[in-house]
Amino acid sequence: MSERVKIAVVGSGYVGLVAAVCFAEIGHQVTCVDIDEAKVAALRAGVVPIHEEHLDALLRRHQPANLTFSTDLAAAASEADAVFIAVGTPQSDTGDADLSYVEAVACEIAHCMHSYKVIVEKSTVPVYTNEWVRRVVERNGGASDMFDVVSNPEFLREGTAVSDFLHPDRIVVGADSDKAAEVLDAIYEPLTSGAYYAQPDAIPGYRNANSRPPLLVTSAKSAEIIKHASNAFLATKISFINAVAALCEAAGANIEQVAQGMGMDERIGRRFLRPGIGYGGSCFPKDVAAFRSVAEQMGLEFGLLSEVEKINTQQTKRFLAKVRSALWTLRGKKLGVLGLAFKGDTDDIRESPAIALVRMFLDEGCAIRAYDPAAMERAREVLPQSGEKNGSLTYTLSAYEVAEGADALLILTDWPEFGKLDLARLESSLRYPIIIDGRNLYDPREMTSAGLTYLSIGRPDAHPASQSSAEKEKATA
Ligand code: UGA
Repeated sequence: MSERVKIAVVGSGYVGLVAAVCFAEIGHQVTCVDIDEAKVAALRAGVVPIHEEHLDALLRRHQPANLTFSTDLAAAASEADAVFIAVGTPQSDTGDADLSYVEAVACEIAHCMHSYKVIVEKSTVPVYTNEWVRRVVERNGGASDMFDVVSNPEFLREGTAVSDFLHPDRIVVGADSDKAAEVLDAIYEPLTSGAYYAQPDAIPGYRNANSRPPLLVTSAKSAEIIKHASNAFLATKISFINAVAALCEAAGANIEQVAQGMGMDERIGRRFLRPGIGYGGSCFPKDVAAFRSVAEQMGLEFGLLSEVEKINTQQTKRFLAKVRSALWTLRGKKLGVLGLAFKGDTDDIRESPAIALVRMFLDEGCAIRAYDPAAMERAREVLPQSGEKNGSLTYTLSAYEVAEGADALLILTDWPEFGKLDLARLESSLRYPIIIDGRNLYDPREMTSAGLTYLSIGRPDAHPASQSSAEKEKATA
């Protein structure tokens, strides 16, 4: 039977909460700590603050036997063999990660070193953070032989966080001591041995007892860089395909065919080559900026990353121009907007390109009706009701309501349900039968045979065969 490790997870944000719940799921004794009393009270009552499959069920399964929530960091850290730091590392004005929360937690943990502990960085942090954490703990009275600092970055995606955690491609453990690496080995043993996957009630995913995740042990610094470099590389892939999509538009080629042809080369791979309106979310924009800034601090200019950011910013502007090219002037135009979240299957709107576009359209004076299956509540908190030139924003209860009387329907988030809409119904609801898809969810032929003009990313504009040339002109003037 695998060893049960006493774990404290500090921070109950996306990464902290998912890690805490999943560590309990694989058999450990976990206390999840947060300074936000209201959040802790809600979690104790079983209320999950984020939209994430399996999380509610696992919370119910393990609370309170294997999993408790607390505001008392000192008590949780004193008891624990491993303390995971999963607090926020927001972006500062200069693009660097603000590490003040990490430092504050390290100071507090320093006073709890009554037994040997592994302090684990789970938040995404720049290289050298492990050294700083070590220094801070020592300066605050932690004896150097009583702890080690390990970097164990997390690669989960929002929307599939629980299954990503339990079915990882790899587990990276950046440990500079064997003793610390052994503790992390024991924590992940239910996954690396395959024992977890043999359980009848295991959360399903692509791993099984015969396909177990590898655990890669590296230096702490390498692990810190692996996390930043992985996110920066994925963002680079997205900006690359978006730049190629622009080229396809100019040349009259089709980006979907190009991406397919490129992705069939196993060295390139098909994933993360979906063109769109740019990447968003709480990770890629922040991590690309932080990685670029880390390089600068070391005297290196990582110009590639500046280009990646530039292409990403241009991508939303290109979409605005595409809408303008279809509708001519924007002021007073009625736009139906499908999607506000930064990607499908999440209610998260942080750095969402959809939100950025809604702001732009509002400022252009458009009357917007928007719908998102999960993110409208959050959008209401940040989006203005009107824009600079009398634009206005209202929310609807369904995708079809958004289309009623609209001059065009825009798809801004890749929710699966937006790819399965009743096109005949949309065609009869829209004032002009135009769909402008920022996520390439449809085959253009499907749209044109439903009588719709379809503009997407990196593909030729598609018009219904029966459309008169006057209508065609009106649609793309
Ligand atoms: C991302 C990484 O994928 C995770 O591995 C990582 O752990 C996480 O950041 C993090 O650092 O915490 P996430 O932000 O949840 O996960 O979202 P992704 O699914 O990676 O999507 C990011 C953005 O890129 C979204 O706006 C999405 O729409 C966009 N995207 C993604 C594309 O435009 N094209 C693609 O082909 C893929």
